Amino acid sequence: MPSNEAPHDVPKVQKPKLQKKVRLEVWLRDFHKRDFSRICEIDRLCYSEDIAYTPEEMALGLGQPGAFALVAEAGEQVIAFVLAYRKKRSPGNSVGHIVTIDVVEEFRARGIGNRLMESAEQRLRQNGVRRIILEVETENEPALRFYKARGYILKRLLSSYYADGSDAYLMEKALP
Ligand SMILES: CC(C)(COP(=O)(O)OP(=O)(O)OC[C@H]1O[C@@H](n2cnc3c(N)ncnc32)[C@H](O)[C@@H]1OP(=O)(O)O)[C@@H](O)C(=O)NCCC(=O)NCCS
Repeated sequence: MPSNEAPHDVPKVQKPKLQKKVRLEVWLRDFHKRDFSRICEIDRLCYSEDIAYTPEEMALGLGQPGAFALVAEAGEQVIAFVLAYRKKRSPGNSVGHIVTIDVVEEFRARGIGNRLMESAEQRLRQNGVRRIILEVETENEPALRFYKARGYILKRLLSSYYADGSDAYLMEKALP
């Protein structure tokens, strides 16, 4: 017989607690020499030993003509960076190269990568760049999606591009 009384023996279903991401103040600024060891550390945290840049390679990248790096800072700690440079070809035909962009894992998916890329692209654009290229490991799905969402397209496969023998895609974006 149907009853309007609430059943006594039905266990209450606990609502799952929503995992709220703590609001984070993040500032972007130019790389400073004092950031060097931290960006090397971040690079090592983001990639396998075979792929991460050695400090010597990182210094070489930073020393390229037309190179610059931007860092993202939260709570006075650098948590992400982008390293890029401009290859001068002929006037009006400079090509920008994103060497790497690394966000410490716990700070990903908060728009920090997007902000860094936006600023790096703007900086390159101001320096006369109309086309940006970059390499990304073919198995790096999050990065591929990240770049595609920012308008980069696959240009070609670079076989055995990395020191561990893994392949890369060359990607490209034309700046408006
Ligand atoms: C790739 C990377 C830089 C992205 O940085 P991020 O701060 O996490 O990216 P954002 O939060 O700004 O995301 C921007 C967009 O990228 C895409 N994206 C980023 N991470 C993603 C993931 N894990 N899965 C799916 N899409 C992703 C989404 O389209 C996202 O837009 P949305 O937030 O509107 O969905 C970061 O994952 C990273 O540092 N990875 C390790 C190092 C690396 O692989 N670098 C690239 C070297 S080639």
